[in-house]
Amino acid sequence: MAGKERMLITGGNPLEGEVQVSGGKNTAVAVIPASLLCDEPCVIENLPDIEDVRALVDILRELGAKVDYEPGTLRVDPRSAEGDTVSYRNAQRLRASYYLLGALLGRCGRANVPTPGGCDIGSRPVDQHLKGMRAIGADAEERRGILRASSACLTGGDVFFDMVTVGATVNVMLAAAKAKGTTVIYNAAKEPHIVDLANFLNSMGARVKGAGTDIIRIRGVQNLHGTTYAVIPDQIETGTLMIAAAATCGDVMIHGCIPTHMEALSAKLLEMGVLVTDNDDAIRVRGALPKRAIHIKTQVYPGFPTDLQQPMSALLTTVKGTSIVQETIFEQRFRHLDEIRRMGAQVRVVDRTAIIDGVTELYGAPLTATDLRAGAALIIAGLMARGITEIYEPGYIDRGYEHIEDKLRSLGAVISRDWAE
Ligand code: UD1
Repeated sequence: MAGKERMLITGGNPLEGEVQVSGGKNTAVAVIPASLLCDEPCVIENLPDIEDVRALVDILRELGAKVDYEPGTLRVDPRSAEGDTVSYRNAQRLRASYYLLGALLGRCGRANVPTPGGCDIGSRPVDQHLKGMRAIGADAEERRGILRASSACLTGGDVFFDMVTVGATVNVMLAAAKAKGTTVIYNAAKEPHIVDLANFLNSMGARVKGAGTDIIRIRGVQNLHGTTYAVIPDQIETGTLMIAAAATCGDVMIHGCIPTHMEALSAKLLEMGVLVTDNDDAIRVRGALPKRAIHIKTQVYPGFPTDLQQPMSALLTTVKGTSIVQETIFEQRFRHLDEIRRMGAQVRVVDRTAIIDGVTELYGAPLTATDLRAGAALIIAGLMARGITEIYEPGYIDRGYEHIEDKLRSLGAVISRDWAE
């Protein structure tokens, strides 16, 4: 019988060299469903070769689209896509399967999408998604585990979100792109992938204005034409590599990234005493010793991203002094710290705040990844630790990081994968 898959890291090697960032996961998972809105074939480039992308490719096929996928590039001819229902099996493979709700509603006026799977990082309600669909003229509800939306005529309308939500902003943008009237989203998310989705839609002839601010205006159009579009580089992969370089006191040049997307992280690394320099599309990170303890509070963009809180708090476990990390977006995003405690970290979690007393050293231990970014945090801990760290459930990491072991190995990390007995 096969054993349990695990990643093995022998810690203590400074990362050094140059590395290329892949296309963005969070932008890819929005742009791929958006291709269903197109009335002609379209091509999406610079996609990361990750499990979430492969799952969406299967969903497009399941809906009847003609799809040609080779890692990095997806050709979609959506004209034959007649389905309006995503299977439970596929919906469970990723959180972003719920973007099919907006994409199918916009395409054919009907959508049935099982409530999605994805990372368990606290309750992840969809009330704002449904409220947004209703505000633009659809019936929308969640019933017996299925998200349903339908409309004979999407009119567009004003959408006021109660909180800043990336997912609901994306879903309403998708549903509204071909509505009969104009939609205005107030309190919209401003993340880089919202801007990238707007650029993709506009490259097909949509009329989306204001993406990147908290008011987005979408004037519905009748048809969207074919396009070839390359998604932006991955902000969170860039940040994870920056943190890995800092954590191992290495010297890494990260190519193909967008430094302005990284301001919140760069500012915190500089505050710690890490050297960060950037030019047009590259960032160089040189980790110095000693580092200073810091306070972090996760916020919506352009604040410190919750997705980098986990790798960053892993780094802070070895920084002398007391660091405070406040998680304001998701309530269960400290589970990686329970694992890193097994390596010798000194951490207390009170409500949504982690109080981290830096230790001199972590020691390799068997650990379990509980979600995607928790897995990235365990990699950071393993790279810093003395001895061998085993990370079980590495499949979580594969959902969002392209060829992460190859990239780290090319920088000098000792990392591999096997099946434990
Ligand atoms: C997206 C990102 C994820 C990131 C998160 C926050 C993608 C594919 N995923 O997730 O990597 O960690 O943004 O930056 O882009 N909320 C509600 N009701 C709703 C929707 C959201 O209460 O209907 C709450 C959530 O519980 C959370 C907050 O709003 O507390 C933000 O969630 P949201 O921005 O929607 O996160 P995701 O889109 O799931």
